[in-house]
Amino acid sequence: MARRRSREKEPSREDYQLKEQLKIEEGVFDTRTVLRIGKLFNKGVIASMEFIIARGKEADVYLANAGEKVGKDFVALKIFRLENARFQNRIKYIEGDPRFGRVKHDVFAIVNEWCKKEYGNLMVAEGAGVRAPRPYAFNGNVLAMEFLGKEGKPSQTLREQKVKDPEKVLDQILDDTRKLYQSELVHADLSEYNILMLDSLPYMIDFGQAVHIKHPDAMRFLERDVFNVLHYFGKAYKIERDHAETMRFITG
Ligand SMILES: Nc1ncnc2c1ncn2[C@@H]1O[C@H](COP(=O)(O)OP(=O)(O)O)[C@@H](O)[C@H]1O
Ligand SMILES: [Mg+2]
Repeated sequence: MARRRSREKEPSREDYQLKEQLKIEEGVFDTRTVLRIGKLFNKGVIASMEFIIARGKEADVYLANAGEKVGKDFVALKIFRLENARFQNRIKYIEGDPRFGRVKHDVFAIVNEWCKKEYGNLMVAEGAGVRAPRPYAFNGNVLAMEFLGKEGKPSQTLREQKVKDPEKVLDQILDDTRKLYQSELVHADLSEYNILMLDSLPYMIDFGQAVHIKHPDAMRFLERDVFNVLHYFGKAYKIERDHAETMRFITG
């Protein structure tokens, strides 16, 4: 009798898998992610986790207190979801890029490659002198970068904030797009949603899909980035800029 009861209590393998999956869906970290966060803790990148800043389709972004290796109070941790099948469609952003070889087409490998790619792209942005979060470290699906905000309060996106001098902000964004291009990178997902405003200055974020200019679709992505930015400033601030001329400015 006793034996039977204890056996009944034991969850089945399916139960266990379901629970693990639910934990991931609830945003509670799976074991791999926990271990990776632990490594960043051991390396002195983070000291402790604070709260979630944003929950996205592919990644969640958390505020962490910085470890002793970071000369700032906070760190932003972007944690890519391991369960996301969506990433399989993203393989084209990796394989068309001459900086990357072939990648295993399993979800975990793609997610890790994506995270590493965002880290590498942020390094390029930093080298180009583009306003973007400084990358600190990555491990598997966990990326640690500079937190953009004030006293633990995250910066607003360009879309959320009415800017005082839109002409100037637009010029700053286009200047950075040009600098990035001169460093052989195209953001490829630039819009009012992926620009954060800090001290009235625009910072580009979300570099996962950024590609090398030799990627076969790089020019199409750049056209789209420029279109998105000009369209937004046209709509929100009635600023008219010529698309072709802007393209020449960036690539010239
Ligand atoms: N370095 C950062 N500092 C502060 N907030 C950030 C940072 N990076 C991302 N965020 C916040 O998290 C949100 C999602 O980040 P993002 O990189 O755009 O991921 P997604 O791929 O989910 O769009 C952003 O809109 C922003 O509000
Ligand atoms: Mg984004």
